[in-house]
Amino acid sequence: MDPALRARVHAADRAHLWHPYTPMDEWRAGAPPPIVVAARGPRFQLDDGRWLLDGNSSWWVSALGHNHPRIVRALTEQAQRMCHVALAGITHPEAALLAEELAAVAPPGLDQVFFTDDGSTAIEAAVKMAVQYFVQAPASAKAGAKKRRFVSLDGAFHGETVGATSLGGVEVFRRPFAGVVFECVHVPSPASPSASCGPAWAEAFDAIADLVEREHDTIAGVVLEPIVQGVAGMRVYPPAYLRAVRDLCTKHDVLLILDEVFTGYGRLGPMWASQLAEIEPDVFCLAKGFTGGVLPMAATLATRKVQSAFDGGRARAFLYGHSFCGNPLGAAVAREVLAIYREEQVLAGIPERHARIAAAFAALARDPVASRIVRDVRAIGAIGAAELRDDASHGYVARVGWRVYEEALARGAYLRPLGDVVYVTPPLNIPLDELDRLLAIVQESVRAVAAGA
Ligand SMILES: Cc1ncc(COP(=O)(O)O)c(C=O)c1O
Repeated sequence: MDPALRARVHAADRAHLWHPYTPMDEWRAGAPPPIVVAARGPRFQLDDGRWLLDGNSSWWVSALGHNHPRIVRALTEQAQRMCHVALAGITHPEAALLAEELAAVAPPGLDQVFFTDDGSTAIEAAVKMAVQYFVQAPASAKAGAKKRRFVSLDGAFHGETVGATSLGGVEVFRRPFAGVVFECVHVPSPASPSASCGPAWAEAFDAIADLVEREHDTIAGVVLEPIVQGVAGMRVYPPAYLRAVRDLCTKHDVLLILDEVFTGYGRLGPMWASQLAEIEPDVFCLAKGFTGGVLPMAATLATRKVQSAFDGGRARAFLYGHSFCGNPLGAAVAREVLAIYREEQVLAGIPERHARIAAAFAALARDPVASRIVRDVRAIGAIGAAELRDDASHGYVARVGWRVYEEALARGAYLRPLGDVVYVTPPLNIPLDELDRLLAIVQESVRAVAAGA
């Protein structure tokens, strides 16, 4: 990169750019950040010419790798035809056909597709949908007005809007907004933070069952990240819990809202995590891999039963809609993403990648040096995670993961941690030799930090 441009970018960033989840005083006082200038497949390129392996698919979004040529082509062709029209009183081919294609691949029954912008707004729409549903659903005429509360898990993460923050169960993210977020009951998570602690899933189920049985007349929905709580540190729980919660919700007329923003599009192996439990939710939220990391677009799917409560006149319609709802560029890209899953056997390649990820993380736990700081390792689908020991702090604010991050950066990988959890969520189609290199960097980096601890 031209040195004058590099200096200008650094100066502009320092002076004006407010980065997400970043203490800006530390950022400004720190070394000038790496500048990313290009991205392709499982790597992105820095201004000094180095190509880094993207260990987390850029916040779990680029599930098919960066700049997949088919997606870029679909975007360019659509841009030449039509970039945007509002889905207001009109329709267009990309939105209608994408809705049809999503309904065909979604868990059975979820054939009503409402388009949103990202994971947070997919959740926000689900929350509003659930509340308005109970106000209007004929069978719930009496209970409806009271059914306005939500239940989610300790450690849950569902996004950034006030509604999504209300559902969140990571204390550090909720604390600043106390008094503004709406009431949500957080129940114990069935996922153990490490192998040695946390309630067994049956005990966690007893807690949610007690609550729902007692208070179902005020509860609109249970919101869950199925099988893996990502932001909580890749915490995994068994499908049996999901099945039990499905039955509980059905019995008590509570909507089951599954947030597949992270787990969807094959991250756990099958297209949807809910397939591992063989259940069908009432409302289903998708984002991230939805556009293969190319544009912000998402969807909230519902059953026809849910949707039909919104029939009966303008005032009963779902009172929600973003300017970019069903944007033609996003829809064209999302259709191409589904075609790539169909035609490039993306899911078929996951077991081999899982085996390599699981073996590498298991080896880390056995390694005589690394194991000094490794508390637990876990792997599911194309996710591998190691929970590390940090004597000074714990969870999201721990620094040990950042020490691994620095080591990995020097070795050629971008490995942004979740506090004390170091993990990989590479593109699902990462070439096997590139995956092996990424996993070797994880091992070397954890070992380097352990050796210096
Ligand atoms: C499970 C889950 N839901 C929702 C979100 C919010 O998605 P977005 O960042 O696209 O708004 C995230 C983001 O990480 C997530 O992991």
